[in-house]
Amino acid sequence: MRVVTTLPELRRVRRGLPEPVGFVPTMGYLHQGHLSLVRMARRECASVVVSIFVNPTQFGPNEDYTQYPRDLPRDLALLEKEGVDLVWTPTPEVMYPQGFQTWVTVEKLTQVLEGAHRPGHFRGVTTVVTKLFNAVQPQRAYFGQKDAQQARVIQQMTRDLNLPIAIIVGPTVREPDGLALSSRNTYLNPQERRAATVLYRALSAARRAFEQGERDAETLRRIMLEVLAQESLARVQYVSCADPETLEELHGPVEKALLSMAVFIGKTRLIDNMLVGMGRETFPPYIPEEQWTVDSEQ
Ligand code: PAF
Repeated sequence: MRVVTTLPELRRVRRGLPEPVGFVPTMGYLHQGHLSLVRMARRECASVVVSIFVNPTQFGPNEDYTQYPRDLPRDLALLEKEGVDLVWTPTPEVMYPQGFQTWVTVEKLTQVLEGAHRPGHFRGVTTVVTKLFNAVQPQRAYFGQKDAQQARVIQQMTRDLNLPIAIIVGPTVREPDGLALSSRNTYLNPQERRAATVLYRALSAARRAFEQGERDAETLRRIMLEVLAQESLARVQYVSCADPETLEELHGPVEKALLSMAVFIGKTRLIDNMLVGMGRETFPPYIPEEQWTVDSEQ
């Protein structure tokens, strides 16, 4: 496994990698969710590249950029075991040179849900992912369903900019009690950690209702809110039943939906989601036209 920091080194090693190249962008402090994406890439691609970069521009002024957990030696040991070919750990100076003033924005999909509560967040994500894509030039890139809106926004951006990259979405990995894996779970104290399962319980209750025939968007949102209200440590920021493609809030009867929420447990903001009525756990992949084959719809 090669570990590189500078752009010239990255480009030189990348040129020697057999294609297709699979790419997993991360902010490090890796958990089984990241590693499941790395394994998907390993199964589907000839080479696997992982980037580790805590991207300052996707954090708001009152968010956790400086506290965000970091452990590079541990991350590298985990990636080595997964058979990763190349790890890129760029510095903030490479990603945002002095005088930086060029941004990539996806206009509509980013107005709702996370975007409505974290102004500027997706502008930071789409800009850094564009720069990472440009440098790594992968054929396939892997994102987690856990950050559902991020995955949809990246798919839209890739399509709109005609990037020749397939965007694959891997399932959310959960603890045995249902809590979705997230680097931010390390902020929870034992009492908060127990309370944090309420997101999964709320989503599961709404999914169960949907499976038993409940189709009204308002009722599905109410079911989630009722479960969340039972947990005294939980402070709800939003609960949503939205169209899985446009992410617009749904009203009246729904055929399929992205159920999602952001909830503070103490000071820690957690998000989670589930798809219903799609016959699958994750968003379908975005495959650019040049990669279409008879069996590319997964
Ligand atoms: O999901 C993440 O870890 C980050 O948002 C990403 C995609 C690596 C961009 O910084």
